Amino acid sequence: MLEKEGEAMKKNLSRREKVLDLLYQNQDKYLSGEELSNKLGVSRTSIWKYINYLREAGYQIESSSKVGYRLITSADNLLPEEIKRNLNTEIIGQEIIYYKEIESTNDTAKRLAQSGVDEGTVVIAEEQKRGKGRLGREFCSPLGGIWLSCILRPDIKPTLATRATYIASLAIVKTINKLSAVDAKIKWPNDILIGDKKVSGILTEMGAELDRVDYLVVGMGINLNFSLDNFDESLHNKVTTIYHETGKKVSRVEFVQALLEEIERIYYKLNNFEEILEEWKAYSYTLGRIVKIDSKREEIIGEAIDIAEDGALLVKVDDKVRKFYSGEVSLCHQGFNSGN
Ligand code: BTN
Repeated sequence: MLEKEGEAMKKNLSRREKVLDLLYQNQDKYLSGEELSNKLGVSRTSIWKYINYLREAGYQIESSSKVGYRLITSADNLLPEEIKRNLNTEIIGQEIIYYKEIESTNDTAKRLAQSGVDEGTVVIAEEQKRGKGRLGREFCSPLGGIWLSCILRPDIKPTLATRATYIASLAIVKTINKLSAVDAKIKWPNDILIGDKKVSGILTEMGAELDRVDYLVVGMGINLNFSLDNFDESLHNKVTTIYHETGKKVSRVEFVQALLEEIERIYYKLNNFEEILEEWKAYSYTLGRIVKIDSKREEIIGEAIDIAEDGALLVKVDDKVRKFYSGEVSLCHQGFNSGN
């Protein structure tokens, strides 16, 4: 059932991509419904329906019964055909499944991964009603942000799955810094900060057998074009948004394209983790600082000195170096704790 739906969606999407492409390429003139329907081999009614769908999605399209349709302005929403128009990837985002509203992109991506969809499939939503954070927390995901989950099927052992979080954090921090005038950093293991405030979080979930990964769902949430008012006031000293920091909105379509391209570039280096780490360390907020780690069993204070080959955080505690794979990290000087 899911497979059939998937096939139908793919077919529709490639037609939609073509209509949108033609509209973009001909913004200086009108395209008649007949011309579009002949070029694409679909009925004029289908074209008309799709034009209405685009209008509902916020696109401004002029039309006249005599001359046809003309695209005036697009809308900065995350329709797959819009993201795919200028997407330069081979795997990541070749399939994009879009929702205006969803409970959690991670939950849907997990179901799709279990049903066998291709590696690189991305589930994206304008808004999440029950966005999931780490440790069972809720993750605030209003309109204007980027909420997406990427399905990966790396040929690695489950113990190396944390590499996906390194890939995502590096891709996010690079994309944020490229597209907005901020200096974001990575707080180990999966938060992105501007200053001391969280602007993005990652939740990686896995389906695996004992010695091999079946799928990873890498969920990424980025607080982009919305104000702090969307958060409970108690979080205002812990979280931020790009819009709050810069007063400017970033094109979300461009952001997603750049992010997916970065993910793919870094993912190709999966088996060369040293190289990923080298790049990652340049953006680290954690290394070189005194940290407090709340793991399930204990609370430890020490200096974060490095990342091990297996992705663990190395912390020097009383002249001994200890390894941590997960846990809440806070910086001692501020009692910082991740919000959102
Ligand atoms: C955290 O900071 O605790 C992790 C947050 C992860 C949020 C993203 S938004 C897209 C994806 N879908 C979810 O339900 N969660 C992740």
